[in-house]
Amino acid sequence: MNIRFVSADSRKEIQTTVGFLAKQSLGYPRYNDWVGRAEAELHAGYKRAILAFSEDCLVGNLIWQPHKTIQGAVEWKNLRVHPTVKRRLFGRFIIRQAEEICGLTVAICDVRTDQKDTIRFLLACGYTVAAILPLYDSEKPDAVMVKWLCPPIPDRNPLEQLGKTFRSKL
Ligand SMILES: CC(C)(COP(=O)(O)OP(=O)(O)OC[C@H]1O[C@@H](n2cnc3c(N)ncnc32)[C@H](O)[C@@H]1OP(=O)(O)O)[C@@H](O)C(=O)NCCC(=O)NCCS
Repeated sequence: MNIRFVSADSRKEIQTTVGFLAKQSLGYPRYNDWVGRAEAELHAGYKRAILAFSEDCLVGNLIWQPHKTIQGAVEWKNLRVHPTVKRRLFGRFIIRQAEEICGLTVAICDVRTDQKDTIRFLLACGYTVAAILPLYDSEKPDAVMVKWLCPPIPDRNPLEQLGKTFRSKL
């Protein structure tokens, strides 16, 4: 068995990440445009990626970035694990490492509400559903899921800002 997890820091690793991202859209509209922007932001260091390899094949990834509007929050993007290695804790390991290394206080991600397995996975990892909103199109709502990565700070609550951000999108 040969399993390894790496931060995609070099140009080559970023190219590998982008190739992997381009393969599956996860049902998001204008996905290819997003992949193009993600590539630029990975090279700029604003987005970061963790890659999982099994027997030297890329089988999983997570993209993360500081949240664009919520101070102190990290946002997970495009967590995915190849079907051949699902339910072997690759997903849990990747997200746990990202929670540790991001250095931020609360983690946020959005999932299409029809991706029930992913929602179950995030619930199992300690995330809760903070809101159900149509973030990308009016047809399919998204579940916004959050987890504190440190004890909540009452007078600096990023979730209050999160609530305002959601209300402004309604
Ligand atoms: C969601 C996903 C990342 C989970 O990765 P994974 O490596 O298979 O999950 P893990 O093995 O780490 O699961 C950890 C726990 O989460 C829960 N879980 C994971 N997948 C689940 C499923 N399909 N149904 C119910 N619970 C699930 C379980 O409690 C599991 O622990 P257990 O297997 O000991 O019971 C993976 O299925 C995936 O890539 N899905 C498709 C892409 C996707 O929707 N990405 C999200 C975009 S934000």
